[in-house]
Amino acid sequence: MTPPSSFRSPAVAVILCFFSFFFPSPTSSASSSSDTFYANQSLSSDQTLVSSNDVFQLGFFSPDGSRYYLGIWYKNIPGPTYVWVANRDSPISNFSVSLAVGPGGNLVVLSTGSREVLWSSNLTSAANPANPLVQLLDSGNLVVSDGIGDPSVYIWQSFDSPTDTLLPGMKLGWDLGLGLDRYLTSWNSPQDPASGSNSFRLDFHGDPEVFLWNKQGKVYRSGPWDGIRFSGVPEMKSTGDIEFVFVNNQKEVYYSYIVNNPNLISRLIVNASGNLQRFTWVPDTQTWSLFWYAPKDQCDDYEQCGLFGICDTNGSPVCNCTLGFKPKNPQAWYLRDGSNGCVRDNKLDCSNDGFLLFTGMKLPESTGSFLDPEMGLQDCRDKCSRNCSCTAYATANISGGGSGCVMWFGDLVDMRHYTEGGQGLYVKVAASDVVAYDGVSSRNGSSSGNGSTMIEIVGICVGSGVLVLALVAFLLWKRKALQRLLTRRTDKRGTRERSQDLLVNEVIVSSKRDIAESTADELELPLFEFKAIAAATDNFSDENKLGQGGFGCVYLGRLEEGEVVAVKRLSRNSGQGMEEFKNEVRLIARLQHINLVRLLGCCIEMEEKILLYEYMEHKSLDSLLFSKSKSSMLTWERRFNIICGIARGLLYLHQDSRFRIIHRDLKASNVLLDGELNPKISDFGMARIFSRDQLEASTRRVVGTYGYMSPEYAMDGLFSVKSDVFSFGVLVLEIVSGKKNRGFYYANNELNLLGHAWKLWKEGKGLELLDSVVNETYSASEVLRCIQVGLLCVQEHAEDRPIMSTVLLMLGSESATMPQPKNPGFCLGRHAETDSSSGKHDESCTVNQVTVTVLDAR
Ligand SMILES: *[C@@H]1O[C@H](CO)[C@@H](O)[C@H](O)[C@H]1NC(C)=O
Ligand SMILES: *[C@@H]1O[C@H](CO)[C@@H](O)[C@H](O)[C@H]1NC(C)=O
Ligand SMILES: *[C@@H]1O[C@H](CO)[C@@H](O)[C@H](O)[C@H]1NC(C)=O
Ligand SMILES: *[C@@H]1O[C@H](CO)[C@@H](O)[C@H](O)[C@H]1NC(C)=O
Ligand SMILES: *[C@@H]1O[C@H](CO)[C@@H](O)[C@H](O)[C@H]1NC(C)=O
Ligand SMILES: *[C@@H]1O[C@H](CO)[C@@H](O)[C@H](O)[C@H]1NC(C)=O
Ligand SMILES: *[C@@H]1O[C@H](CO)[C@@H](O)[C@H](O)[C@H]1NC(C)=O
Ligand SMILES: *[C@@H]1O[C@H](CO)[C@@H](O)[C@H](O)[C@H]1NC(C)=O
Repeated sequence: MTPPSSFRSPAVAVILCFFSFFFPSPTSSASSSSDTFYANQSLSSDQTLVSSNDVFQLGFFSPDGSRYYLGIWYKNIPGPTYVWVANRDSPISNFSVSLAVGPGGNLVVLSTGSREVLWSSNLTSAANPANPLVQLLDSGNLVVSDGIGDPSVYIWQSFDSPTDTLLPGMKLGWDLGLGLDRYLTSWNSPQDPASGSNSFRLDFHGDPEVFLWNKQGKVYRSGPWDGIRFSGVPEMKSTGDIEFVFVNNQKEVYYSYIVNNPNLISRLIVNASGNLQRFTWVPDTQTWSLFWYAPKDQCDDYEQCGLFGICDTNGSPVCNCTLGFKPKNPQAWYLRDGSNGCVRDNKLDCSNDGFLLFTGMKLPESTGSFLDPEMGLQDCRDKCSRNCSCTAYATANISGGGSGCVMWFGDLVDMRHYTEGGQGLYVKVAASDVVAYDGVSSRNGSSSGNGSTMIEIVGICVGSGVLVLALVAFLLWKRKALQRLLTRRTDKRGTRERSQDLLVNEVIVSSKRDIAESTADELELPLFEFKAIAAATDNFSDENKLGQGGFGCVYLGRLEEGEVVAVKRLSRNSGQGMEEFKNEVRLIARLQHINLVRLLGCCIEMEEKILLYEYMEHKSLDSLLFSKSKSSMLTWERRFNIICGIARGLLYLHQDSRFRIIHRDLKASNVLLDGELNPKISDFGMARIFSRDQLEASTRRVVGTYGYMSPEYAMDGLFSVKSDVFSFGVLVLEIVSGKKNRGFYYANNELNLLGHAWKLWKEGKGLELLDSVVNETYSASEVLRCIQVGLLCVQEHAEDRPIMSTVLLMLGSESATMPQPKNPGFCLGRHAETDSSSGKHDESCTVNQVTVTVLDAR
């Protein structure tokens, strides 16, 4: 990768003599150590131009000894570091070439023998300079000027066709008059200067900003210039040494930077893997130090949180909706996938709408925005108010107290919130939301607001982070009431076959009660008035609260007639939203099985979404199983009964109901226990309906719970009945052992519960897995059978796992023949990843780390 060194090196000069033999010279060669040459001269492939102060050098180089390029590099920096490549996409295969000035002032690379033009600088307008002069400047710019006229007027310059590097003084952006677009394109690889797939390119439309593109599309944007910095680069700051420049006028729109300190060598590149990097040269260590790079974090990824979403790296999850908005797909959102974005709580009515101010923001994508550098903020607001399609506005230039106006129309895309830096953005919301979030909106002041945090409202019972849904239920529904409900349900059963999905959609979309009521009837589900539920739960008092989870709160409710129910009130802003609600209502209303929790009614009024369930005295399985004080209640007989009950419930879902239903989130906390400790599967918010003959589906969004997910689901998003079987297997082993698969590690943290069970099984010590609190008599063969079934269910390969009917058969019969389990998926524990490559735990378990990766993937 060494370029020919300067002509001045005596050692090289010898070789050069050899080369010059090949050059017939109708023109003379450029003089050594020169920074210029004229049209009557040429630069042969062994010569270089050196800028007057020895900063840059131009010449031919070859990264691999077979393809030759004309390029510019730093003269005194080893490496070398190339900043420009002329013929990056048309390498020269024969070193016998020279650089000359062709007709019209074009720079050309000619093959020495045939005088064939191998590369040309491609001037658009025929400048026809009388006496063209080629010069390499200390800025790194290779320029062609008319040697007679003004030397500062270039008819061509390399700065106008950048490679991957932006040097100080180079412009990134547009000369609108010439239609010239200067942008950076990465090298194909660190050894291959050919145009790669990543580029950094300014879009001058609306409020201009710069985008990083790859093959797929936009990956990052700088945010519009706010007068001081790019809105998406809060750390950007001009100093005495380095000054950032943004010009936006009728003729030109560009970004540039100027280095005022002669000792500072700085360059900005788009690297081969698609990152922006700014390097500065450190003479002491003779290395480039990385000064800045982008994209930096998850929130820098373009459109991470979808339309109207705000990304905040300090948030958990990182995506949040602007006030007055809610997640479009709350389930995906809750599971860290915000790409669906947010939708309005309330529609704009275009006459009464107001604005909410968000501070510390990276402004939304602004190519479709409207920019007026003169207009004041108040006029901006008025104008935005009057235009129905205007959705937000902001100050265009925050320096000097703020001036100018940017307005957005339609969706707001790719916003993020910064703890420090960022600026104010006024988002249009319905008048009712302005009232709802009052105190946030009424501040009309200057929007420059650096660094202040986003104003928060107190969420109603918003569960945070924990997915464990405390859908807890108690006591028994009075027989009378139950009968009444069931009769009502049964009467109507079978009268309709038409798609109820549509029906449910209707209910949800319209919050009007009459429609909801009729649909609830269609759903064969009693509808309750919000008033009645509020009364039953003592106005959702804390005393009545049974639990709280990601999707809302669960309350104990006493209806007028004295029936006790569990009331699941879905919170507006997080967790279970319309989609899950529909899903759950749709599914459960149609399911009837002794091992499935029963839905007794629902309430859809205004923003309220409430589900009434039968009350389960012993809450969820995990609250008994993993509790020191209560786990002894679970004798072996009861445990076995619970295992079989869950298996029956699951079999019903998979095979016996009218649909094939994949639960997708089977776990201990989703199994409720009634007064007799009979298990009932609950929480169908994530379930999927399959048609009877569908066997497998895939999803881009992996939902579910760590520790219960099958490898093919966690890794490839493939789910089928076999992924539920996997979760069931985990559950069985948990019930037998009384230990959580997740968060419990054996043998110096190397194995999780699955791995541990597998190890014991292989060593013939299966009974050691049994929970130590189970000390009364138990049937050893039953325990071993359960362990074997559990292990069969968690086998790594889905096709090896049994289906639920087989599981029940195996559980129920002493004589059933059972295959020997193969190795389970995900059996390594916490420390495993560090030495898993050593093959120490060779059980060929799937490495646990994979799950983590998937769950944390953005
Ligand atoms: C080439 O042209 C320049 C400018 O016209 C002139 O000064 C120089 O003497 C010429 N050199 C040769 C070798 O003809
Ligand atoms: C390179 O070009 C020279 C002159 O045109 C020719 O003599 C030589 O054979 C070429 N070399 C190769 C490898 O093509
Ligand atoms: C040269 O310019 C012409 C017309 O502007 C264009 O079609 C062609 O692709 C350019 N060639 C190169 C190598 O840039
Ligand atoms: C590109 O830049 C990023 C960020 O600095 C860095 O992690 C990556 O290794 C770089 N890639 C190459 C090929 O230099
Ligand atoms: C999301 O935003 C709301 C209001 O803007 C705030 O109350 C809540 O804490 C935020 N959530 C996260 C996870 O940042
Ligand atoms: C609103 O603004 C858009 C974009 O500037 C413009 O096309 C549209 O005509 C405006 N509508 C009204 C009613 O002023
Ligand atoms: C922003 O405002 C400052 C102060 O009024 C002014 O000097 C600067 O030129 C403005 N910048 C742009 C890009 O309009
Ligand atoms: C905010 O702006 C509105 C509309 O221009 C105005 O009526 C109101 O008085 C302002 N409020 C404050 C606190 O400045």
